[in-house]
Amino acid sequence: MNDLKTDNFQRPIISLRISITNRCNIHCFYCHHDGIIPQEYEMNSQEIERISLIAKNIGIKKIRLSGGEPLIREDIIDIVRRISKIGFQDVSLTTNGILLEKYALSLKNVGLNRVNVSFDTLNPQTYQFITKSNYLEHVKRGIKKAVQVGLYPVKVNMVVMKGLNHNEIWDMFHFCKEYGVILQIIELLKTESCPDSDFFDEYYYDMKIIEEKLKKKATNIKTRAFMQDRKKYFLEGGEIEVVRPMDNTEFCKNCTRLRITPDGKIKPCLLRNDNLVDLIDPMRNGASNRELEKLFLEAINKRKPYYNGC
Ligand code: 5AD
Repeated sequence: MNDLKTDNFQRPIISLRISITNRCNIHCFYCHHDGIIPQEYEMNSQEIERISLIAKNIGIKKIRLSGGEPLIREDIIDIVRRISKIGFQDVSLTTNGILLEKYALSLKNVGLNRVNVSFDTLNPQTYQFITKSNYLEHVKRGIKKAVQVGLYPVKVNMVVMKGLNHNEIWDMFHFCKEYGVILQIIELLKTESCPDSDFFDEYYYDMKIIEEKLKKKATNIKTRAFMQDRKKYFLEGGEIEVVRPMDNTEFCKNCTRLRITPDGKIKPCLLRNDNLVDLIDPMRNGASNRELEKLFLEAINKRKPYYNGC
């Protein structure tokens, strides 16, 4: 029961993104909370471990922990240790970086492979505006520490927003080069889990303009199959990856992910909340591994490309 599973649209299910908490220590106005509507309770570390084990049984190769902010869970080290022991190709985590300096070494020691750090700006005022906090220097130190302890590769996720940080892409690229990390620039996305949608019209920045510039500057361009067809631009001394979900049928066509909500439901699609499959209640009521695997397969069968024309 260890082979890769494929959904009804020939998409293999390679990775599982587990949101382990909805809580966060900052409040970015655009945050889509990984598409998840707020939940009341969180899975404990044993439950997260068991779900990962079932995922492994149905052929999933990679686990990513997300949130909220995963590093605010007090048992984060225990969670990563439990998951790493199962033996995935890749165990990673998305963090806002504020607590990264504190945890990077322990995370590395319990088997975490790599981190993505959400970090949109180098400008203190802009950082304050986006996050309602003053942790910019903490994040920089966190990124540095992650590189130092050998988490690899470290990536910076920069959501590009019109008039806020769209002029900072090159500064951010140079920062990433200096720190030895990869820059991922991400197009702003509107989902039903966003706090409100007014921000979208104001800040949406069409990344076509940037991609045209990158095409001219790049020494090489690669398209990452199975990674929503993301483009990777190789530039003098570094690289930039571009993530463009909006109106991008390729985003769905090449989606190879399932998600788990903090309260233990399987979420087949980032952009939908009407097709969740509950895992935690059956698990708490004594379901066998076989039965839980079946629930995973049910969720995989519910997967449909979200965008028209896929
Ligand atoms: N649009 C695009 N990306 C978003 N993220 C969160 N909210 C949005 C949004 N509205 C991404 C950021 C962050 C990751 C956790 O989710 O890149 O790094």
